[in-house]
Amino acid sequence: MRKSCLPESAHYEAILLVGGQGTRLRPLTLFTPKPLLPTAGVPFLAHQLAKARSFGVRRIVFATSYRASMFADAFGDGSSLGLDIVYMTEETPLGTGGAIRNAAEALTCGPDAPVLVLNGDILSGHDIADQIRVHVERGASATLHLTEVDDPSRFGCVPTSPDGRVTAFLEKTPNPVTNRINAGCYVFQRSVIDSIPAGQVVSVERETFPGLIEAGELVLGYSDASYWLDVGTPAAFVRGSADLVLGKLESHALPGPVGEFLLLDGATVSPEAKVGGGTVVGAGVSVEAGASVQGSVLGDGAVVEPGATVVDSIVGTGARIATGAVLRDVVVGDGAVIGPGNELAAGARVWPGVTLRECSVRFSSDV
Ligand code: GDD
Ligand code: MG
Repeated sequence: MRKSCLPESAHYEAILLVGGQGTRLRPLTLFTPKPLLPTAGVPFLAHQLAKARSFGVRRIVFATSYRASMFADAFGDGSSLGLDIVYMTEETPLGTGGAIRNAAEALTCGPDAPVLVLNGDILSGHDIADQIRVHVERGASATLHLTEVDDPSRFGCVPTSPDGRVTAFLEKTPNPVTNRINAGCYVFQRSVIDSIPAGQVVSVERETFPGLIEAGELVLGYSDASYWLDVGTPAAFVRGSADLVLGKLESHALPGPVGEFLLLDGATVSPEAKVGGGTVVGAGVSVEAGASVQGSVLGDGAVVEPGATVVDSIVGTGARIATGAVLRDVVVGDGAVIGPGNELAAGARVWPGVTLRECSVRFSSDV
């Protein structure tokens, strides 16, 4: 057993997995990686970075691949956030385990230190310092944050024994044995990361965790019921942004007060418009008289014309939603135009720059 408690001022290193292509969020991720999509007014990762820092993380290695250079453009050396950020790029993606192993080359800590590893698309209210404390006190090889969801088949299903030991790791199994899933935040002993084979494609979920369990290593679950969301789908992404604006999950990176909507620089909302449900009204956006926008993200420079309705949707930069158009659960790419009277719903996606002419699409749930 290692030392039983951590010094109050303990500082840690972390690895952030941000190399995925974000395919489920296309067309938003055609030109921008998922972790950089504007979320509650700032790049998504700003929320995760602020949280990690508040729990004692000071140095973060970004494991990048897809559109790698955009991360350094966004966060530089991290000094403006009180962090030391370094970048490790995979020329071809190495999978989650291979990425962790590759990023570990840039860690400075010794083999016995705990290292935090974060999926780059998670909003979570759990106490990271307590997760690390439990990991250290129990002398675990790895400690996984676990949460419960309604549909565990879309995640890593993680059964545990009564003392918290993880007994199996079943990634995206059609027959989940529990609703408890891998929440995408791990504490690893540095030495365990170093034992992952270098320079190879490795899945931490399908190979590393099952291998550690098989070898009898202590893999612990840290279960908790606080706010948790993977923002990997459009519906979840817009939900996460709205929850941050509404204050359902606190974030020090929110660039304004918590409330029904967040107004960014130069945005205008007509007094005769209804805007709420945690909507982000991007810089220079115009929401005109009689328009209604609920629980949505309006990208910079977008226009919502008189009488248009936008619900639970993402409207890209510079896009235009014309008079009387109705959008529910829709993604509109940058610069697209939804002509007057169109009705779109149920996960429709409009590609960047596309124009839908007047009344060309009508979705009705009654048909
Ligand atoms: N650097 C790098 N290289 N990063 C990668 C790679 C890679 O080859 N592949 C994926 N990632 C990153 C993604 O950018 C993301 O931040 C994270 O790893 C997880 O990938 P997702 O594509 O979002 O996986 P998922 O949501 O289907 O499943 C994962 O997360 C669930 C929780 O949200 C798994 O870890 C599940 O077990 C887990 O339940
Ligand atoms: Mg994910």
